[in-house]
Amino acid sequence: MAPSAIETVTVPVPEVSALKLQVLKGQYKEAPTTFDKDAETGKKGFEAAKYPHYLPTWNRGQYYQPLQPFEHVDHGKDADPSFPNLLPEGSTVTHLTPTIGTEVKGIQLTSLNSAGKDELARLVAERKVVAFRNQDFADLPIEKALEFGGYFGRHHIHPTSGSPEGHPEIHLVHRGAGDNTIDQYFANRISSVAWHSDVSYEQQPPGTTFLYILDKPETGGDTLFVDAAEAYQRLSPLFQERLHGLQATHSGIEQVNASAARGGIKRREPVVNTHPIVRTHPTTGEKALYVNPQFTRDIVGLKKEESDAILKFLYDHLAYGADFQTRVKWEEGTVVVWDNRVTQHSALIDWKDGQRRHLARITPQAERPFETPFKA
Ligand code: SIN
Repeated sequence: MAPSAIETVTVPVPEVSALKLQVLKGQYKEAPTTFDKDAETGKKGFEAAKYPHYLPTWNRGQYYQPLQPFEHVDHGKDADPSFPNLLPEGSTVTHLTPTIGTEVKGIQLTSLNSAGKDELARLVAERKVVAFRNQDFADLPIEKALEFGGYFGRHHIHPTSGSPEGHPEIHLVHRGAGDNTIDQYFANRISSVAWHSDVSYEQQPPGTTFLYILDKPETGGDTLFVDAAEAYQRLSPLFQERLHGLQATHSGIEQVNASAARGGIKRREPVVNTHPIVRTHPTTGEKALYVNPQFTRDIVGLKKEESDAILKFLYDHLAYGADFQTRVKWEEGTVVVWDNRVTQHSALIDWKDGQRRHLARITPQAERPFETPFKA
């Protein structure tokens, strides 16, 4: 069971200055796309993309000021823990594993009132990842989907990823049917598993996060999730205590550099931020490991070899913990909601070439990570 709620220690910050899109006069030029447009529009013998208005665009004219701090309100704290609005009679709730992962059928996210949304934030904080089946979310106008997601925090705009035309707040995951990407992908690596917590380099990384399927391969392309709170619990009290008080750096520089190297875009200057290695969830009070191999670079104050050894141990612990992981199989109409503060995830790139995997992510930012004192 999740521990009782605690107060967040997030310090109030000045009013957010609105994110300003600067269209750089005279510099607008579409960045090179990385998919075969003809294949996606059904011209090469492949089925056309089901949601063409969600195909990725990379607009070099989108350039943003650095993100400003904002005060995050965690709605899970206000929620009724018996979930009467979210899970009314007639809904079906199946836990996928004891600690992480739940599947819900028989409700429509888009019909939730505010109390239902608060309960959604709380359920997701407790169960870490929840798959809602048979949703109409992808069929909403994009503005409406964003309005729904915006309840949970300020929309994150990704520094490099493709987004639907005019909606940089949507992060797209897209591998086109005509791209032959799978063979290429495995030409010089043996596995697609890449555990991470989304954009952990931001000062206020995402919390309640939404990913919905648009087009899916026949089989494969599942998403793995690991419960970083249970991973923390499995450590000995002595080791837990040693981790408390340590901070690690998280860097967005390499992601921006990788985008530049393939001719992609940069929407903002990259940032490096320092976060506690053990962070506390503002609603549940649970402590979770908050380091990931994609964005964490080093532990502040340790020598390189010391930092590398501890981080490697923690990454391996999270990656090998099949007894605190779950796996979501996508079905048409699925919306997966996870709490990015207490989980890590990895897409699996294992389907047959010639098929398409296309998803959209709404990524509300949350509080600046904080830790509460160690308790044996
Ligand atoms: C993500 O990393 O946010 C997307 C995961 C997926 O493609 O399954």
